[in-house]
Parts: sequence; C-alpha cells; structure tokens
Amino acid sequence: MAEHPAYPVGLRLTGRKVVVLGGGQVAQRRLPALIAAGGDILLVSPTATPSVEAMVEAGELTWEKRPYAEGDLADAWYALIATSDTEANTLASAEAERHRVWCVRSDDADAATAWTPATGTSEGVTIAVLTSDAKGRDPRHTAAIRDAVVEGLRDGTLVAPHHRTRTPGVALVGGGPGDPDLITVRGRRLLAEADVVITDHLGPRDLLAELPQSVEVIDAAKLPYGRFMAQEAINDALIEHARKGRSVVRLKGGDPFVYGRGMEEVQALAEAGIPCTVVPGISSSISVPGAAGIPVTHRGVAHEFTVVSGHIAPDDERSLVDWQALARLTGTLVILMGVGTIGKVAETLIAHGKSPDTPVALVQEGTTAAQRRVDATLATVAETVVAEEIKPPAVIVIGEVVTVGPNPSK
Ligand SMILES: C[S@@+](CC[C@H](N)C(=O)[O-])C[C@H]1O[C@@H](n2cnc3c(N)ncnc32)[C@H](O)[C@@H]1O
Repeated sequence: MAEHPAYPVGLRLTGRKVVVLGGGQVAQRRLPALIAAGGDILLVSPTATPSVEAMVEAGELTWEKRPYAEGDLADAWYALIATSDTEANTLASAEAERHRVWCVRSDDADAATAWTPATGTSEGVTIAVLTSDAKGRDPRHTAAIRDAVVEGLRDGTLVAPHHRTRTPGVALVGGGPGDPDLITVRGRRLLAEADVVITDHLGPRDLLAELPQSVEVIDAAKLPYGRFMAQEAINDALIEHARKGRSVVRLKGGDPFVYGRGMEEVQALAEAGIPCTVVPGISSSISVPGAAGIPVTHRGVAHEFTVVSGHIAPDDERSLVDWQALARLTGTLVILMGVGTIGKVAETLIAHGKSPDTPVALVQEGTTAAQRRVDATLATVAETVVAEEIKPPAVIVIGEVVTVGPNPSK
C-alpha cells in the first residue's frame, strides 16, 4: 500500500460524524481544524488536556469520558486515532477498516488509511502538503514546505495572481514607518501584484527595489501638476492608471489616514467610480518612538498620548491646535512634522504651564538604518535641534515616558 502515493482530497465534514480517540496533545493539535471544518465531533477518552476541555466547554465537540470500545467507529465518516494505548489504536483502526472509515493514526502512519497534511491558509486558499509515501514521511520537511509557500504568498515573494477575484482599481497602502519589514502582510502582497505603484518619499522605499521591471513606479512628488494642486495631480494619476484596467497601489508612509491625505484620494476615487481598498499601516507616531525605546504610554506614568501635527506654528492663525489645552495634559505629546516649529511649540507649552524640564526626544528616520535619537528638555529642545542638525523626518516625543526605558542611543 505504501508504495503508491497518497491521493489528496478535501473532506467536507460539515455535520458529519468524526470520532477522535484520545484527548492528548495530538487531538489538541488536530481538533481546531476539524471543528473549523464543521465536523460533528465525538471525543472518546478517559482524560483530556485543558485546551481540549475548553473546546468541550465551548460546545465545539462532545466528550465521552471513557476508553475506546468496539463499535465507536461504526457510523463515523472519519476518525482520528490518537490514544496512548497502541493495542487500543490497533483494534480501533481494524474496526475503521471494517466499516470503511478513513482513519488517521498518530502512532503508526503505515497502518493508517489516511494522512493529515501540513496545512496553512492564505487569502481563502488552503495549502496542504503531503508526503507521497509512508517510508519517506518527514513531517518537518512537509511543514517547512507549507511554511515557505504560505509565508511567500503572504509577503509577496511568491506571486499567484488572482484571476477571478483581482479587480482593477486602487489600493491605498500604508507602508509603515520605513523598515521594509514593517509593512502589513496584505500591503506587501498587493504591492507584489501591482502594475503601477505611486509612492511618496516616506515609507518603505527598499521594497520598491524588489518589484519586477514591468511594474511602473511613479514618484508622487515628481508628477507634473501645472495649474493644479499637487494632490489633484496625484488623484488624476490614480484615476487615469486605474481606468486603463491596471492594478494601482498608492504607497504611503505610515498609515494613510494619519497626516497622509488618504481620505482625499478615497473621495476622488469614489467620485470617479473607481474601486478603492484601504490597507492600514503602522504609523510612525507610535512605532518610531517605540523603535527608539520610548513607549507612548507607561503604567503609572502616562495614561494618554496625543498626536499633533507641528507643520503650522502655534502663533499662525491657520493653526487648529489648542496648545493651551495640550499644555495642561499630563500624558505624552507626539509631534509629527514639527522639526521646523519645535522652538515655538516648546515656548508655547512652557508659557501655558508645562515644566521647562519636561523630557523631549527627537527621533530622526526611525526604524531605518539611519535612525537617530537625541534627547533634550522643553527648555533646550530648540537649541538642540540646531546644534544636532536634526532634519525631517523626525518624530518628537514630549513627556515623562522619554525617560522610562533604556535609551538605545546611549
Ligand atoms: C506627512 S506625515 C505622514 C505620517 C504618516 N502617515 C504616518 O502615519 O506615520 C510625515 C511625518 O511623519 C513623521 N515620520 C514618518 N516616518 C518617519 C520616520 N521613519 N522617522 C521619523 N519620523 C517619521 C515625520 O514627523 C514626518 O514629518
């Protein structure tokens, strides 16, 4: 029997009786997939692990607390034989054979009539990897192949275009703060499937180098915009490429909706009748402080954090920020786009009551190889920015959280 390869098949177990003998580690590992497949599961075992008991308590299977008995498999469609008693396993698999019930055996793959593949899922597809013959069974190897395929599909290094479900349109993808590993799995996959990528300067630029030659990469900052606003030129480019039936990714730094003008693009696409998917990203406002050893909240230190744009100075009439109110807050202030205005911001916060000794950290090019952290206080930050030649992009963190962790720059 073992000389022939196994025949792969997908069992549709919904509402069909599945018998599991043994409530140990093997059952614990296999039960979630059997439950997910909708099987009507009967567990026969004198004992069960706490996790298996939790599944019973959740009503996901029925448990008869006793050893295997002849007749248990008579009306099953499928059986998992995994008791610690080899004799009972042998009797049970003989019964399964008599009743023509496909059965998996945890202790003897050769004696089993079915094998469990190593499985994983990606985008609604189940990947199942099976060794062809019992003698060559190497579960670690099949698991490694499964992992390589699932991982490759998730991170986009293995590309399998969706022929039926891929819709032309635009994906607005948050690329994270800069480290190419910090884009989401979905973002990376969409990037790998794109025909056109319209990108900003911030975000994971290294990922663009991995794209195939055929992908058109457009730098949003270089789009000619003549008498229009730059943003209108970007919206037009998105619409124009999508209308040609191409898969367009609009790649942005951080999260598309955190000072990213993402919603303006969503609105323009909606008006043009173009389908748009939004993929959130890891915002620099939290991840950059974190990468520099600063938690934006910390028990007993800061119970809130506020993210503020510093691109308009506090004394500018266009400012929408209530700096006076911010000065009264006891939590953390995170300022983006604030390198040029931090002197005035610090002055305003101190004028409204914040201590000049409040710790401040400036984190430039966070999560990239060029990451740099410089510490100061509200009183000294303006001169520190000049003396240390801090340049955008930088995240500025103001508050006691700056001093709670070890400073990796020291
Ligand atoms: C236009 S905002 C975009 C923010 C982005 N959407 C996000 O969620 O991170 C640009 C500002 O984000 C901050 N920023 C983005 N990436 C950064 C990084 N890797 N290191 C430091 N600051 C960064 C800087 O304050 C920069 O001026």
